[in-house]
Amino acid sequence: MSEHDDEPAGKAYDHRLMRRLLGYLRPYRTEVAAAVAVVLVDAVMQLAGPWLTMQAVDNGIRHHDLGYLDRVAVLYLSVLLVSFGLGYLQTQLMQNVGQRIMMDLRMGLFRHLQRLPVAFFDRHPVGRLLTRVTSDVDVLNELFTAGVVAIFGDLFTLLGILIAMSRINLELMAVSFSVLPLIAVVTLTFRVRVRRSFRDIRTQLARLNAYLNENLSGMSTVQILNRERRNFEGFRGINAGHRDANLRAVHYHALFFPVLELVGALAVSLIVWYGGRQVMWTGITLGTLVAFIQYTQRFFRPISDLSEKYNILQQAMASSERIFDLLDTPAGPEIPALEPMAVPAATRPGERLEGRVEFEHVWFAYAGEDWVLRDVSLSVAPGERVALVGATGSGKTTLASLLMGFYAPQRGTIRVDGRPLAEWDLRALRRQIGFVLQDVFLFSGTIAGNLRFGDPSLGDAELERAAREVHAHEVIARLQDGYRAQVRERGATLSLGERQLLAFARALACDPRLLLLDEATSSVDTHTEVLLQEALRRLMEGRSSIVIAHRLSTIQDVDRIVVMHRGRVRECGTHAELLALRGIYYRLYQLQFVDRPGAARPEGPPQLDGATLDSHFVDTPVRLA
Ligand SMILES: Nc1ncnc2c1ncn2[C@@H]1O[C@H](COP(=O)(O)OP(=O)(O)OP(=O)(O)O)[C@@H](O)[C@H]1O
Ligand SMILES: [Mg+2]
Repeated sequence: MSEHDDEPAGKAYDHRLMRRLLGYLRPYRTEVAAAVAVVLVDAVMQLAGPWLTMQAVDNGIRHHDLGYLDRVAVLYLSVLLVSFGLGYLQTQLMQNVGQRIMMDLRMGLFRHLQRLPVAFFDRHPVGRLLTRVTSDVDVLNELFTAGVVAIFGDLFTLLGILIAMSRINLELMAVSFSVLPLIAVVTLTFRVRVRRSFRDIRTQLARLNAYLNENLSGMSTVQILNRERRNFEGFRGINAGHRDANLRAVHYHALFFPVLELVGALAVSLIVWYGGRQVMWTGITLGTLVAFIQYTQRFFRPISDLSEKYNILQQAMASSERIFDLLDTPAGPEIPALEPMAVPAATRPGERLEGRVEFEHVWFAYAGEDWVLRDVSLSVAPGERVALVGATGSGKTTLASLLMGFYAPQRGTIRVDGRPLAEWDLRALRRQIGFVLQDVFLFSGTIAGNLRFGDPSLGDAELERAAREVHAHEVIARLQDGYRAQVRERGATLSLGERQLLAFARALACDPRLLLLDEATSSVDTHTEVLLQEALRRLMEGRSSIVIAHRLSTIQDVDRIVVMHRGRVRECGTHAELLALRGIYYRLYQLQFVDRPGAARPEGPPQLDGATLDSHFVDTPVRLA
């Protein structure tokens, strides 16, 4: 997917894209074939009307044959009724196919999105991806329902009228077609402009969505910084752009079809004028003339329909290009259908992790040579509890993401149980790692649903036991509906500390062999901190644990503390050893516990940047793991 994928695509028709699009019709070929048949029959019906009129005039009216006239009228009515039925059938058939293709497309997109590497989502804003799955798919629906099959109908109608006209009277046909060059000129003139205006609309719509998305997600920031007024004006600008683009399109629309109709009317008046004379002088029957007038009128309808379809086609090309772009982004392995989720991780034989983790000279950069981790070596023995500390931006979360397999290191190896990460089935591995992210994400649904997110087979009793052990039960019990309470807006109504306790319970419920915990940065009150501390201790019990800690108070009794600084492991040892070393850890500790006037306990972690620490440690002694 390109970075500027909301820029409209250039080509109006792309054979390759079209083939691929039509591929989506394949599962529904029976319905499509039926719809095409219906459309063709309907086209024939369209031809019948004028012909019946001709018969009525020439044979009925001229010969004063009332019975004949009655029969023709009944026939005419039947044709209209059948035509009505066919129209209904065709719409039903094609809307059905269209809706099902939309469903297929959206499922395909969703499946693909789930398999995309985490790095992909660093680069692609949510708003744009949403547009792919929603409105771009909608545009394709129009192609399938109103485009593909109906085009056959239009072409067939045109062909039929051509044949009918040529059989009735070639001279009148020539008169009628004398306006065709005019049609060509009108269509070509408008086509370019309409196309440009459609592209404008798409671009403006994408901007509108992106702006709206950002403003809604960041509403609290907007309000805190008093940006309402300015962002309102910003929205006004974008909204106006969108309106104007639409108005331009409306302008062409409003002009184009009436102009086409005008040309059609011109053709009809030519027929009346010329054909009328022929009736008087050369003995063309009146019925012929009447039929011709009707054919001429009907001839222009499919032409204007076709121009409409051309627009649909253009939009569909642009949308499908974006959709296929997304679908073609290389993804991870196929996700098996509902396979392992139903089986509790812990009960599966032969898959139990030992819980040994090794980082060997790992180098990693998100982009280019911007090393975020430099030559990191680190090992965690089974059952060992290791804490990771360091200034903000020193690479702690990155290290955890690497261990989860979200990104691959450029150099060095990461091993779990002695096996390089690359050789692991990541899904099997992740099942046994309890991961608590720095930003706890809760899904809409109940609290219980969130707790058993990783393993839907967990029973209520198991959930409650896990929740009790990490003190999440108290949080949950306070909610009105307890475990059945609805989580709203990603848990925004819960405090950060509460969300973290819930995440602890979620991790514990699956009884992972390896715990990877990225503590939330912001401060919590003293009571919650004590709860978190105890919960953490319980969580680490009996399993290998890597805890990224921002509050040094939480980790004083772990087996080993690893201090990271600017992407390197700089110190390593127990709390006491590191204090004695009087290095980075000592300084961090001082900052949290001692340097604060009047503060016996830390209010929260100091948000140090690397430079502040650097100034303290020009010549820090370095001990590697
Ligand atoms: N997805 C990303 N793409 C590009 N750069 C990133 C990405 N995530 C983090 N970084 C950069 O990598 C560096 C390390 O970030 P990381 O999140 O690992 O720090 P951290 O030690 O977890 O900090 P904190 O204590 O604030 O959580 C930072 O300079 C950050 O800007
Ligand atoms: Mg972090």
